[in-house]
Amino acid sequence: MEHLIRQLLLRTLTGEREIHLTKRVPSRGELGSKLQSIDALGIYLHIPFCEQICPYCPYNKELYRRDVAERYARAVKREVDLYADIVGSRPITSFYIGGGTPTTMLHSGLADVIGHIRDVLNLQCDIHVESHPNHLNADNLSAIASMGIQHLSVGVEALQDRHLEWLCRPYTVEGVKASVGRALSQGFRCVNVDVMFALPGQTCREIEQTGHALVEMGVDQVAAYPLFRFPYTRLGGTGKANNYGILQILKRRRMLGILEGIFYGAGYERTSVWAFTKRGVPRYCSVTVPLYLGLGASGGSYLRDVFYLNTFDASAYVEALENDRMAIALSVDLSERMQRAGWLYWRIYETKFRKADYRERFGEDLDRAYGGYLKLLTLLGYLKDDGERVVLSDRGAFWLHAFEDIFSIDYISKLWGTSRRDLWPEKVIL
Ligand SMILES: C[S@@+](CC[C@H](N)C(=O)[O-])C[C@H]1O[C@@H](n2cnc3c(N)ncnc32)[C@H](O)[C@@H]1O
Ligand code: SF4
Repeated sequence: MEHLIRQLLLRTLTGEREIHLTKRVPSRGELGSKLQSIDALGIYLHIPFCEQICPYCPYNKELYRRDVAERYARAVKREVDLYADIVGSRPITSFYIGGGTPTTMLHSGLADVIGHIRDVLNLQCDIHVESHPNHLNADNLSAIASMGIQHLSVGVEALQDRHLEWLCRPYTVEGVKASVGRALSQGFRCVNVDVMFALPGQTCREIEQTGHALVEMGVDQVAAYPLFRFPYTRLGGTGKANNYGILQILKRRRMLGILEGIFYGAGYERTSVWAFTKRGVPRYCSVTVPLYLGLGASGGSYLRDVFYLNTFDASAYVEALENDRMAIALSVDLSERMQRAGWLYWRIYETKFRKADYRERFGEDLDRAYGGYLKLLTLLGYLKDDGERVVLSDRGAFWLHAFEDIFSIDYISKLWGTSRRDLWPEKVIL
């Protein structure tokens, strides 16, 4: 059933039956020509190290080892150098460091990598970094701030000890509240807290407690994700993976409704499908510009009509760069229709956009291309369309994500699952 919905949507929105990623390393000439028509770029840097492997986590990561991390830092700098001539003086208007856990490298090369990026590229933006609560002691927080990081995200996950235990998180509610408190007094522009909901056995009362506690703690932003079971994780491989059962969907809907009520009541606004940000605070988010370069193992680059993906394996990544080779493993060319559908999807995901931006990007009227869909979604109460701006409603936000997960869980499982098993896959078909 999910497979049929996926195929139908893919076909309707992009005209494609399948998406083929193939083993192809672009030449410097090709990269240069892709960048020629791009004025501003984002950067995503992946740090694939963690001090533990959590049973539910789908991200590309391996256990932290200082020697590997130090080699990795040198390889990232080498990768930046390989891109430097091609990128030239184009402004970098968004810089996100995700993981894994980037703060594992606080004392094994992160400052060096950020410094090198500042030296070599034209960085004109704030830096956003993901962190683990156990890393947020006073010394580490000042080290983070002194690297010029202005936006910090903390993976809190739950505010009940029994759920933290089930998730195998190595801290208590008391400890994690203290970590977030220290981060909040460090003076970052935005501190985001990640939590998961719809955990097994979690009650609505517990979600209410969590929402109120986050508001009381004064966090600038909350990103609340329902727990998903990815087939290749330890959690996905055990128990009955049922992401789309009707009871599970209703539970998620009810819990998200509770969080919406609490955050709106406390002066937060929705800034993406799952994120609520205090009014007036700059939001914490991943790459904010539509086009970006991906650095590090599993870094993905989206350069208008092409998407490249680096090898997932940290050692294979390091080895490629030590031999002056790009670490790109897979590429896919994107048709005009795929680009349009992708653009629209991401703008709606950010909850609001101007129709004029679509015209500017694609040179045609949004209503001409997607008017029928917009009308239908407006009638269903998923979108509000005032003629100039399209805004996602709360109902739309929930269903957009449910719809997205039909794609992402399957696509992520195939693409990330294959890329983790095979360092340089011949091809991946989505
Ligand atoms: C890279 S991790 C966060 C940073 C850090 N590694 C940590 O664990 O504290 C990104 C976030 O994705 C969310 N996440 C991870 N696995 C998930 C899953 N299976 N379902 C829903 N959300 C998930 C969690 O909220 C997690 O904090
Ligand atoms: S949740 Fe965070 S710490 Fe745990 S494995 Fe994933 S990235 Fe690493």
